[in-house]
Amino acid sequence: MSIREKLEFIDNIEEFPSMPSVVLTLMSKLNDPNTTIMELEKLINMDPGLVSYILKLTNSLIFGLREEVYSVSRAIVLLGMSNLRSLMTSYSIRLLCKIITNPQAQEYIWNHSLSVAVITKVLSAKKFPHDQPNAYVYGLLHDIGKIVLYIKDSAKFQESLERGIIKNLDFVSAEKELFDYSHVETGYFMVSKMGFSHEMKDIILFHHDPEFAPSTSIMPWIISLANELAHHIYDNKNIDIRRYLEKIQFSEEQFTEIVKDAQKQVEQYRSIL
Ligand SMILES: [Fe+2]
Ligand SMILES: [Fe+2]
Repeated sequence: MSIREKLEFIDNIEEFPSMPSVVLTLMSKLNDPNTTIMELEKLINMDPGLVSYILKLTNSLIFGLREEVYSVSRAIVLLGMSNLRSLMTSYSIRLLCKIITNPQAQEYIWNHSLSVAVITKVLSAKKFPHDQPNAYVYGLLHDIGKIVLYIKDSAKFQESLERGIIKNLDFVSAEKELFDYSHVETGYFMVSKMGFSHEMKDIILFHHDPEFAPSTSIMPWIISLANELAHHIYDNKNIDIRRYLEKIQFSEEQFTEIVKDAQKQVEQYRSIL
């Protein structure tokens, strides 16, 4: 399939516009660096579901705040822009996952996306001295192309999941056999349509083979490692961590600690989100 055909394929997905419009608006506003905190507050207040989500999570153990928060404006002050973006992206991806009507498949995609987001956050916190506000968001979005595959053909999508999980095959190859393309291409075109950054597009395109990423950024490697780790821990898939440790420069001891910490945090996030 040529690039042009792939683009046409995405353009022709009839169900695409029926995705919750709140998600599309949120994603593009979150993605726009010029969006002000006041605009986000306005958007949140337009959606009662999002209001209660933000308040529930602000008061959850994740942020460890000492005061009970009752208003969105107070939550925003306490959370800050970066945490707010992470929460709103979680909300958007959770809504997108609900497009998948098979409950097990829906839970699988959501849990996997959340696990990769949390593991990415933990890995990049160890790697970079300064906060990487996008790490969690990148992890959440890395497999967004799977939802596009589901919209295209839910039966084939289900089959590709079963081949990946039950038969323990490689997801990308299973999807290519069934669709001729994989969630990597569909995810790439989806974030391109939404106007995401080059870094986000590279992450989606190379999260299964970071050695081909054109940029020198270490982020595609971190996402790829988080993805492999999540499949290893939660789907019993084999993982070869040596190439990652060499590239990201973690010692084995550091890595063991990171995995323990990440697993603890994944459990915490899963119980709350
Ligand atoms: Fe993937
Ligand atoms: Fe993944």
